Amino acid sequence: MLKVVTKAVPAPADGDAAAARRVYVDLRGVAKTYRRGHGAAARATHALEAVDLAIREGEFLAIVGPSGCGKSTLLRIIAGLHPASEGVVEVGGKPVAGPQTNLGIVFQSPVLLEWRNVLDNVLVQLELRGVDPRPYRERAMKLLAQVGLADFADRHPHELSGGMRQRAAIARALIHDAPLLLMDEPFGALDALTREQMRLDLEALWMATNKTVLFITHSIDEAVLLADRVVVMSPRPGRIEQVMDIRIPRPRGLEARRHPAFVEAAERITGIFLARGVLHGAGQVVPPTGGDPP
Ligand SMILES: Nc1ncnc2c1ncn2[C@@H]1O[C@H](COP(=O)(O)OP(=O)(O)OP(=O)(O)O)[C@@H](O)[C@H]1O
Ligand SMILES: [Mg+2]
Repeated sequence: MLKVVTKAVPAPADGDAAAARRVYVDLRGVAKTYRRGHGAAARATHALEAVDLAIREGEFLAIVGPSGCGKSTLLRIIAGLHPASEGVVEVGGKPVAGPQTNLGIVFQSPVLLEWRNVLDNVLVQLELRGVDPRPYRERAMKLLAQVGLADFADRHPHELSGGMRQRAAIARALIHDAPLLLMDEPFGALDALTREQMRLDLEALWMATNKTVLFITHSIDEAVLLADRVVVMSPRPGRIEQVMDIRIPRPRGLEARRHPAFVEAAERITGIFLARGVLHGAGQVVPPTGGDPP
């Protein structure tokens, strides 16, 4: 779908070259507590705790963690959509003090304007930035073709399947060619086959451009197959449990699942989730819980 031609590159011999690149997204001591109500009725949700994370320019970084551990919160803080309760957040060397425009976001559920057709939903990204969308129509059509929606440009969102809506949202995030792409479980609504194809296509797109990508997922496989580094988060309040370098040569085709580095990383992450009670081994009885505490 996202059809891009790329050259094969070997896995880095060591992390030195990557480590030398400048830090593009920098989080230091970031915490987030959501509060609602006042006085005795006040409720607080401690979503994130002491997050230190540096994403380097051009890096593909994946975050994997259990539901509710603060992954979307982290993404919204980087995008400037929610303020951090504590800590420092910088993008491109500047503190984040409000909504950022020099990035593309794919939200967990595709937010499309129901009264606009698919093409105009892609172009809205430019209108929101005060840019005349007309010169971008051709580029928008090209992106829609890349995500397999060439024949659906004049359709409205209600005429699309869940996966097609998400693909339209991906095209929209790419239209203004921002250097940073934030993707919150972008393939969550896709069927398994489309998901696999989108994974291959996203890697090709990333290899052909110089974008910095933050990719959030529940899928251990997807994180390891896509990323240069995988960040594993703990259950809420979300903390960084471990950061792993993934040394698998690119492009990582369908056979990457057999690479020893894939097997090792996937097993390590599974082990962390087993130890934290996020996953339970076969045959283990899951004890009843008293509900989700605030
Ligand atoms: N706007 C909000 N107001 C209050 N609490 C919130 C808000 N957004 C998220 N939370 C809470 O913060 C915690 C983390 O939520 P978040 O959406 O960041 O998790 P997540 O890791 O993205 O989960 P999932 O994998 O299910 O998408 C949850 O307990 C959630 O209830
Ligand atoms: Mg989320």
